[in-house]
Amino acid sequence: MTKPQLLIDTDPGVDDALAILMAHAHADVLGLSIAAGNVGLAHTTRNARRLVDLVGAATPVFAGCPNPLVRLPEEDAAFVHGHDGLGDVGFPEPNTAVADEHAALAILRLTRERPGEITLVALAPLTNLALALRLDPSLPQRVKRLVVMGGAVTGRGNTSRVPAEFNVGFDPEAAHVVFEGFPDFDLVDWELTLRHAFDEDEFDQWLAAGDHRAKFFGRVFRVARQTNRERGRRGIIAADALAMAVAIDPSVVKHSEHRRVGVELDGRLTRGATVVDWSGRLGRRSQVSVVMELDQAKFAAMVQRALGALQAA
Ligand code: RIB
Ligand code: CA
Repeated sequence: MTKPQLLIDTDPGVDDALAILMAHAHADVLGLSIAAGNVGLAHTTRNARRLVDLVGAATPVFAGCPNPLVRLPEEDAAFVHGHDGLGDVGFPEPNTAVADEHAALAILRLTRERPGEITLVALAPLTNLALALRLDPSLPQRVKRLVVMGGAVTGRGNTSRVPAEFNVGFDPEAAHVVFEGFPDFDLVDWELTLRHAFDEDEFDQWLAAGDHRAKFFGRVFRVARQTNRERGRRGIIAADALAMAVAIDPSVVKHSEHRRVGVELDGRLTRGATVVDWSGRLGRRSQVSVVMELDQAKFAAMVQRALGALQAA
């Protein structure tokens, strides 16, 4: 079976880092398009270059938009990912260069070069993808699949606005453009992430058994682990890794619900919320496969392989 052809939009970010390791272990990665989000674009771009160095690939890195489409960001996620976005462990200037093509243009070019072949994996605020869609509304016709990590489908978010999840809350207008512009995509939300945490001790065994990738990830992940413990989040959670598992192997999904999902843009308390029409009351065509359950053992095996803790399948 041929490997999935992935184009990953990302704001590394430590859970992005694990997702990028998974992608290179299980798929063909055609490029990393970089967004601002967890930390600023300069850091997220440098972190992506560092990760490409780590896996020893020739994956092109395309820098994208430094800010959301409309309003400037109110908060980043440095308290989870570190000020530099990779746990503030420090590392020398990466060897991998930044391509001189904007992320949004790279998304359009690569999908024109490979129509129907590429799975777009959106692990960041959706600014780049929204810009690409506005430049070329026919983009969805050329994309094999779109998998989005974002949202909180019953309003249990992770930002200072209770129902908003970070990726959607950072750039709600961009999320609205994507949610309205793609006729069908898979959504891996924050609430699913919390349901698919790994056991801490088990994860430490994977890190101990792994190779250079595990050692790097164990170091950069320390800040996030501590923050998650302080916030009472049980176990090892990695939202982007979960979304990447769905992108790499759709059979990992055990249950999903196909619904219409919108993005709130104006609510004082709810801006950035993902609003699911669970009972179909709006009569609008459903465009989102809301992933509700994954095969945890398959997910675990994909993560272990990415850390070098399990032989390739
Ligand atoms: O809410 C989780 C998402 O926000 C993940 O993509 C994480 O990297 C942060 O960007
Ligand atoms: Ca991310």
